[in-house]
Amino acid sequence: MTLNQVFLLDHPLVSHHLTVLRDRATRPSEFRAGVARLAMLIGVHATEDIPLRDVEVETPIMAATCQRLDAEIGIVPVLRAGLGMVDPLLELLPDASVWHLGLYRNEETAEPVGYYDKLPRTNAADVAFVLDPMLATGGSIDMVVRRLQEWGVSDIRVLSIIAAQPGIDRVTRDFPDVKIYVAAIDPSLNEDAFIVPGLGDAGDRIFDTP
Ligand code: PRP
Repeated sequence: MTLNQVFLLDHPLVSHHLTVLRDRATRPSEFRAGVARLAMLIGVHATEDIPLRDVEVETPIMAATCQRLDAEIGIVPVLRAGLGMVDPLLELLPDASVWHLGLYRNEETAEPVGYYDKLPRTNAADVAFVLDPMLATGGSIDMVVRRLQEWGVSDIRVLSIIAAQPGIDRVTRDFPDVKIYVAAIDPSLNEDAFIVPGLGDAGDRIFDTP
């Protein structure tokens, strides 16, 4: 389904691997593997319209006009949970730079708190792929997008595995140009601002922390 800038993946592999993640019986090693598989599937979709330039190559047979990527690409994992999506994106985009941003949600208020930011002030990437398996209230993505806009990135793409409808509504309202690629959109949040039915806390399940 495509709703303006929201791209909800519809693929049997996505459904299967998402079910593995939702299952509370899934062990951390399987959970990590599932996050990586879904990140790869989402990553393929999110790169469908990346710019290309023509290049001439000599094949073993003859000269041929081919294409290579033509963009400075930044991969922006949101610590911690976004780390689980970095390797598959680097498999797809081996020449991308990786810029880490550290945020956690205050457990009382559900507001994001930034704790790590090494983004430079100049030479913004052409395209930034923001990696975070969860988009709940949207507060964390709001903070990340503002920081990337301040850096000067015009093409910002958020790759999440699971999102809540209220968070999607917030991000699409506040940032109409930001594209969101997601494997599932759940209807709501509970009183602790967790996605319902969701998959729990992705960071804790990836890193096996309580
Ligand atoms: C989770 C998740 C997102 C954020 C989503 O991080 O990985 O970053 O919360 O919530 P929001 O949309 O309401 O802002 P968490 O605070 O659990 O940190 P962690 O990745 O270190 O586990």
